Amino acid sequence: MNSSVIDFMHNRRSVLVKNMSEPGPNADELNTILTIASRVPDHRKLEPWRFLVIQGDARQRLSEELAEVKSQQMDLEPEQLAAEKTCFARAPLVIAVIAAPIEHKTPKNEQILSAGAVCQHINIAAGAMGYASQWVTGWSCENPDAQKVLGLAGHEFIAGYLYIGSCDEQPTERKRPDLSEKVVWLND
Ligand SMILES: Cc1cc2nc3c(=O)[nH]c(=O)nc-3n(C[C@H](O)[C@H](O)[C@H](O)COP(=O)(O)O)c2cc1C
Repeated sequence: MNSSVIDFMHNRRSVLVKNMSEPGPNADELNTILTIASRVPDHRKLEPWRFLVIQGDARQRLSEELAEVKSQQMDLEPEQLAAEKTCFARAPLVIAVIAAPIEHKTPKNEQILSAGAVCQHINIAAGAMGYASQWVTGWSCENPDAQKVLGLAGHEFIAGYLYIGSCDEQPTERKRPDLSEKVVWLND
């Protein structure tokens, strides 16, 4: 048994983006995270996902472009607009996981579940390297105008934005499900 993996999985937690700071993963670590992210179950090897790595100045640029789209679609208070304009810049690195399900014998739901597995692999890989991470979604994930800004094709959407950085304090545990309410045991 790989008890360090079991220990890590038992204790891992997401870290809120607002508690993240520099540094993020370096280029080698990022390459490892993306490699691990790609090692997910994937029915019929369709690879129905891809990545947008948002770092450096692109965080601010893309946030501003998306804020512009959002402000055209809905009324935003000045504070909301200001927050949107720096959205991705809250962490050193954001990996947008793009789900790209196609018409295929493999149902779209299965393809999207594979993209979800990619998101959690990123969470786990980043956490195992000692980084803080959180899976975040939002209005831009399935908004057609936002999808254009992000360079997505018509059939693609954002399965998750994985924010990654460092944090000074580890988060405390949160309430976890009561297994007796979740599991039906069938033994004979
Ligand atoms: C698909 C998906 C979308 C999520 N979107 C958000 C979000 O937009 N904002 C947020 O605060 N948490 C969001 N969460 C929850 C966090 O990623 C995370 O589950 C929570 O902070 C506690 O996770 P932990 O059990 O890994 O510590 C989302 C989770 C999933 C699975």
